[in-house]
Amino acid sequence: MVAVSSADGSSNEGNPQGRQRDGWSSRTAFILAAIGSAVGLGNLVRFPAEAAANGGGAFVLFYIFCILLIGLPVLLSETLIGRYGQSSATISVRRMAEASKASRYWEGLAGLGVLGSFMILAFYCVIGGWVLYYIGLFLGDIFTSGVTGGALTGMSAEAIAAIFPALLENGLMLTGLDIAFVAITLYFVARGVAGGIEIVAVWLMPAFFTLLLGITIYGAFSGAFAESLVYLFTFDFSKLTGSVMLAAVGQAFFSLSLGMAGMITYGSYVSRDVNLAGTSAIIAASDTAVALIAGLCIFPIVLAAGLSTEGGLGLMFNTLPHAFQSMPGGSVIGLLFFIMVGFAALTSSVALMEVPTAWAREKFKTPRAPTAIAIAGLAMALGAASAYSFSALSDFHPLDFIPLFAGETVFETLDSVTAKLFMPIGAILTSIFVGWIAERHLIDMQTGLTGGMHQFWRFLVRWLCPMVLSLILIVGIFPSVVGG
Ligand code: PHE
Repeated sequence: MVAVSSADGSSNEGNPQGRQRDGWSSRTAFILAAIGSAVGLGNLVRFPAEAAANGGGAFVLFYIFCILLIGLPVLLSETLIGRYGQSSATISVRRMAEASKASRYWEGLAGLGVLGSFMILAFYCVIGGWVLYYIGLFLGDIFTSGVTGGALTGMSAEAIAAIFPALLENGLMLTGLDIAFVAITLYFVARGVAGGIEIVAVWLMPAFFTLLLGITIYGAFSGAFAESLVYLFTFDFSKLTGSVMLAAVGQAFFSLSLGMAGMITYGSYVSRDVNLAGTSAIIAASDTAVALIAGLCIFPIVLAAGLSTEGGLGLMFNTLPHAFQSMPGGSVIGLLFFIMVGFAALTSSVALMEVPTAWAREKFKTPRAPTAIAIAGLAMALGAASAYSFSALSDFHPLDFIPLFAGETVFETLDSVTAKLFMPIGAILTSIFVGWIAERHLIDMQTGLTGGMHQFWRFLVRWLCPMVLSLILIVGIFPSVVGG
């Protein structure tokens, strides 16, 4: 049965089987929204930067391995908890726990995800704000540089190198841009699942794919494509160290939006006739394809300009503008590139805002729009503190008393608390819950897997996922185990 949209998008707590709830209008809409959640700054900024920092091919191969054996099983676990519960993440887990005669406190795994999603939302939208700034920069540049030559004509290399640091210094501007990005996100979340979240995915994801492929093909002709292929796909196994492996698993989880209750929430709007295993495979495959294509989009542009692929966030915001300067049509490509990044970031920030919104609506029995506005307001406040992390608040280290987070600004703390603690803990608990605690009949009917594949999935969720994720957690807390 297809989910029925109710006018006010109200929930139906206590009635898991009844379907008077706002939901995706089709399976395709769910797939696009889930891909939209997964594909984001993680694929476009973090993946190329991590691949560059961790030696290219070996990281990439291990990353694919992690997506298949650890990410995909957990993705299926999260969506099936949501689809079973048909509620916000915490209540969905509680329903499955109660039906399995297990403690309702298992809902804590989703509670952690709700908090984590909110924390990621707060700093993610700050980066979304940077993207808005660069869209404005290249839009303005088209008027000064024209459309045929390179971008940023007449600017010295030093002047280009100063753009990003100057932006980071400007806390007020960053806060304004952050507020703008949160507000755009809010607009879609406040309109509901079928009327807002789905619209943004259905329109922006195809546009995103078109832009990504277009820019990649353009870069392939004008840049160092062959060199990038060698870089990304030459597997030098001597480079596969413990810390490279950990970086790959962490990246796989962040990229698939796992451990943050996001896929439980999105799964809760899925109708019962959807095959979750097949759908999860499509989501994971698309996310991985985008990460790889993003590498093949960015590296040729950077390498052709003779620049370094290293540098974390700076790869996109510092290095690429230099590369666009020497690229034919650089101002237009620069503009299209950052519009593309903006689209990907928005479909992810919408997912990040929906998780706490769905939770708060059920918790406080409040209507969607005011709830989303309240969440957005809180995200703006925390976002402002993150935005000033690069200037006035650069010496403010909120968790200085915890060695793991000592010396980190608000912006860095939000990132590392969620990545090092919440994400692995959320995912470990999810796999234990689905693999060991929930009644089998609640799970088995829902996966859409049969025979050996089902057995294999069960094995992964019961054994491999909790074990590998526990290792990530331990090493994340005690980095010296793998030598940093
Ligand atoms: N997966 C998103 C990205 O790659 C980030 C994200 C994490 C979104 C967790 C939702 C939940 O950018």
